[in-house]
Amino acid sequence: MERLQKVIANCGYTSRRKAEELILKGQVKVNNQIIVKLGYKVKDTDQITVEGKSLNREEKEYYLFYKPEKVVSTVKDNLNRKTVIDFIPTEKRIYPIGRLDYDTTGLILLTNDGELSNILMHPSYQVEKTYIAKVEGSLTGREFQLLKNGIMIEKRLVIPVRVKLRQKNKTNSKIEITITEGRNHIIKKIFDILGHPVMELKRESFAFLTLQGMKKGEVRKLTFKEVKKLYSYK
Ligand code: URA
Repeated sequence: MERLQKVIANCGYTSRRKAEELILKGQVKVNNQIIVKLGYKVKDTDQITVEGKSLNREEKEYYLFYKPEKVVSTVKDNLNRKTVIDFIPTEKRIYPIGRLDYDTTGLILLTNDGELSNILMHPSYQVEKTYIAKVEGSLTGREFQLLKNGIMIEKRLVIPVRVKLRQKNKTNSKIEITITEGRNHIIKKIFDILGHPVMELKRESFAFLTLQGMKKGEVRKLTFKEVKKLYSYK
C-alpha cells in the first residue's frame, strides 16, 4: 500500500506537491470515488484517475547512461553481446531512447515511459544532440562550409545546428557537431560524404543533458526536474 500522492508522482504525472493539490481539489478518483484525503493508501490494483484521465500505474524510470564502446543499444542482441540494459540496475522493462552504434560512446537515455520516448524521438521537436567525431584528415574551409550549409543524406538535407573544429593534427581532427536528426549512422554518413570517415564517435549531450562528472559505464537516474524539462520539448 502506498500513499496516493506518491503513486501519482512516481508515475511521472506530476510532482508530489502538485499531486497533493490535485487531491485536495477533488481532482483525483480511486476506483471511481473522489478522494480528498492526503495520505490515502492505495493498492497496486486500484484504478486511479487524475483530472479525468486514467493513471498508467507502472512506475516510470529514467536513466542517463554513459555508454562505452562494444555495447549494443538494443534490449536484446542475437550475437549475445553486452547491451545497454545490462548496465541499468532495474527489474523494469526499460529501453533506450534512440540508438548509438556498437562502437559509439556517450550519452544515451533509457526509460519505460513511451510518451516521453516518442516526444524525444520525434523530428518535429528538434531535440539537439551534440557529437564529437574524430575523423580522418582535416576538413578544408570549403568542406566546412558545405557541412554548415547542409548535407543531403538519402534525399533529406541535414543542416547542423552548430559545427566547430575542436582539435586538428596531421592525420585526423576532432569536430563537434550538433544536429536534431535521429537517423541511424547519420554522423558517419555525413562525414563519409565529405570524404573524412569517422574513426571515433562520442555523443556528449542530448537536449540539455551532458555527461558531466560521469565515467564510461556509469548510470544515474534523471531527476524529476530533468524529466519535466524533457517533457517541455512537446
Ligand atoms: N550517428 C552515427 O553515425 N552513429 C551513432 O552512433 C550516432 C549518430
